[in-house]
Amino acid sequence: MALSSREFCLSFSKHAKAMGFYKRASELVTQSNIPKVQRRWFSSATQEENKLSPSDPACSSAMSSKTNSVQVPAGIRRVLKAETLPFSAFLTDSFGRRHNYLRISLTERCNLRCQYCMPEEGIKLTPRAQLLSTEEVLTLARLFVQEGVDKIRLTGGEPLIRPDVLHIIGEMRKLEGLKTIAITTNGVNLSRLLPGLKDAGVDLLNISLDSLVPAKFEFIARRKGFHKVMEGINKAIEMGYNIVKVNCVVMRGLNEDELLDFVALTEKKPLEVRFIEYMPFDGNRWNFKKMVSYQEMLDHIKQEWPNLELLHGAESDTAKIYKVPGFQGQIGFITSMSDHFCGSCNRLRITADGNLKVCLFGNSEVSLRDVLRSGATDAELLQIISAAVGRKKKQHAGMFSISKMKNRPMILIGG
Ligand SMILES: C[S@@+](CC[C@H](N)C(=O)[O-])C[C@H]1O[C@@H](n2cnc3c(N)ncnc32)[C@H](O)[C@@H]1O
Ligand code: SF4
Repeated sequence: MALSSREFCLSFSKHAKAMGFYKRASELVTQSNIPKVQRRWFSSATQEENKLSPSDPACSSAMSSKTNSVQVPAGIRRVLKAETLPFSAFLTDSFGRRHNYLRISLTERCNLRCQYCMPEEGIKLTPRAQLLSTEEVLTLARLFVQEGVDKIRLTGGEPLIRPDVLHIIGEMRKLEGLKTIAITTNGVNLSRLLPGLKDAGVDLLNISLDSLVPAKFEFIARRKGFHKVMEGINKAIEMGYNIVKVNCVVMRGLNEDELLDFVALTEKKPLEVRFIEYMPFDGNRWNFKKMVSYQEMLDHIKQEWPNLELLHGAESDTAKIYKVPGFQGQIGFITSMSDHFCGSCNRLRITADGNLKVCLFGNSEVSLRDVLRSGATDAELLQIISAAVGRKKKQHAGMFSISKMKNRPMILIGG
């Protein structure tokens, strides 16, 4: 019988001790040379805030007052700055944002079933013939790189289950002007594929991990895999990836109690643990009460490490980066919900079925696959891309509007 997350947590807390989960988690922490940190349950949102419904106007004011109290130094404010280099008019939107970062989803399939990403009933997969072929992926990558894209992230679904993933990366590596190839992976197949990925030319790895407790991992992902993911993370470090990014979606009542353990992971390892605010997508049953905001996470972490330092990142960085002084790694917060970074957005997305999405939270899409298959020239493709980029909105509609809006489930977009 499937348990709700609340039922799971109640039953988890009750039985965890008896079943030795915390002991096992602390063993893993010890194995990884991580100091044991005091575990605590918490919620800094007030009772009233937790009771608010998304349609309640007080809800947005509660969020904005929390957000406003975060001091972000001028260096990382999300502002547009005139650049000296010329940039493709096709990839520049009406607000002057230059899109030099492309995320390509290689597949809709996945070997996990994360609750926040995939609806419980699963998804209707697109027939294979309607997905982008290897050649189509590479044609689009080449076109975007010619126009100034210098970073491509491969995502999904789970990109590492696509059989031609190494070939795609190897071919992309040959594109002149492409500086960075990144992958976001759930890490299950990572350890096995890492040597090939490194040889093919992967520069950056983001590995998703939402719990350090194997049973909880399995509850969230609806599949086993915790130990393989940990193996993947450790191997990536051994193979010289520095920094290895770890993506952790934080959900109230599920894994918020592990924040400090995740921070502690960064003491002896070159990790950047990125705490991601839970975002609404079709079928993931998002609600405001389950979302733990940046400010709340920060407040909690600062109780343990009051001298947490804010680091200055690039303007287009989505994460607000901090470091505990003396720790090898660092932590980041992806604050898409409580403090969006639309003003400096430089991303475009192509879904596995070939649709260009100019905004993660916008439902307007254009099929580049159909244009490609109609035999269009590069110039014609660029006109279509340019029109879509030109229509990009200034910012997303706000978390409550997004949560009611029709969009794809995350697994069909590619995070
Ligand atoms: C959709 S996954 C695809 C890549 C790969 N399968 C993985 O899990 O890393 C990309 C990222 O999106 C994040 N993600 C998925 N659904 C999300 C949600 N509702 N809110 C916030 N992040 C989400 C995942 O945690 C993951 O880090
Ligand atoms: S977050 Fe990644 S691993 Fe989890 S279901 Fe979605 S695509 Fe799969």
